[in-house]
Amino acid sequence: FMVDKGNRRHFMEKEIHEQPEVISHTLAHYVDFTASTSRPLDLPFDFARIDRLALSACGTAYLSGLVGKYWFERIARLPVDIDIASEFRYREMPISQNSAALFISQSGETADTLASLRYCRKAGVPIGAIVNVRESTIARESDVVLPTLAGPEIGVASTKAFTCQLSVLASLAVRAGVARGTISPDEEKALVRALSEAPRYANQVLKLEEQIEKVSRELSHYRHVLYLGRDTNFPLAMEGALKLKEISYIHAEGYAAGELKHGPIALIDENMPVIVIAPHDRIFEKTVSNMQEVAARGGKIILITDRKGAEQATVDTMETIVLPDVPEIITPIVYALPIQMLAYFTAVFMGTDVDQPRNLAKSVTVE
Ligand code: G6P
Repeated sequence: FMVDKGNRRHFMEKEIHEQPEVISHTLAHYVDFTASTSRPLDLPFDFARIDRLALSACGTAYLSGLVGKYWFERIARLPVDIDIASEFRYREMPISQNSAALFISQSGETADTLASLRYCRKAGVPIGAIVNVRESTIARESDVVLPTLAGPEIGVASTKAFTCQLSVLASLAVRAGVARGTISPDEEKALVRALSEAPRYANQVLKLEEQIEKVSRELSHYRHVLYLGRDTNFPLAMEGALKLKEISYIHAEGYAAGELKHGPIALIDENMPVIVIAPHDRIFEKTVSNMQEVAARGGKIILITDRKGAEQATVDTMETIVLPDVPEIITPIVYALPIQMLAYFTAVFMGTDVDQPRNLAKSVTVE
């Protein structure tokens, strides 16, 4: 069937704007909004009985898995081994019989991800697939399909599939927490309520388009950009850098803010904008120190934060993008949007082929 751009310039723009709706759609599959509970799932394993979870994927899907690791470990106290699929398939990792494996893929056809799945199949552990295409090979070869309900994604750079993958992973982590008794029924309710607010906040963030477009115009004058974040915003920093390089061809790197002093700080000068993803959380002050280190070296900071963070960031920024104060669990979902919008508008200013960037494919079915 045909998918068109509607009144948008690019599929990517359209897909960014679809997020409130598709996140809601996806969440509704895994949680009950009325009762504020996670839905029971028919899984080929019991979260209460496994002691490890193996995750693998490529590209943006891998970065959603990295966020998932923080959630599974924090909410469900379930240790997660995660690796990019091209490494996972060859590194001969021992797979404990008390584990389960999850593979994340928009297309469900990525060759390395499929090979990792087959490696786990040989190891004899139960396999789940978080996929957007239900008729895909990865879906077919799994014991359970955990769908993202993002609808067809046409833009090569993944956007709505990413936030839907995050929605599934967060819901699963809550479910695992319930099964493992690491969260109380009240905590489950609070987490599900928080998740159910993600679409509304995503909608609010879309309204910051004008400011983000303005920042992007500035960004398009640079050759290198550094993204920093801590905790679940560290994978998001990597996703921001990946999006920017994929579609604008500006060199970008995503780093854990605490790792700044172990390398990237050597690159900081007035020619290196630094995008800091930092909601006001319990380690916010640490990130403020990192920003001061950047500012002291003439680096230009674009801070993406919330109201409290903007008040308490004692540092001069080139621009501060202020998002609503959101519950902690949904920050990676909500903060993904400004990151995607920055890459999108920058690419538009650079005049690149946004939906079909050079040398990249939507789905990489060969090794
Ligand atoms: C390609 C695409 C990315 C995607 C990655 C994994 O590199 O350009 O957008 O994240 O493949 O694809 P998958 O379909 O497995 O999620």
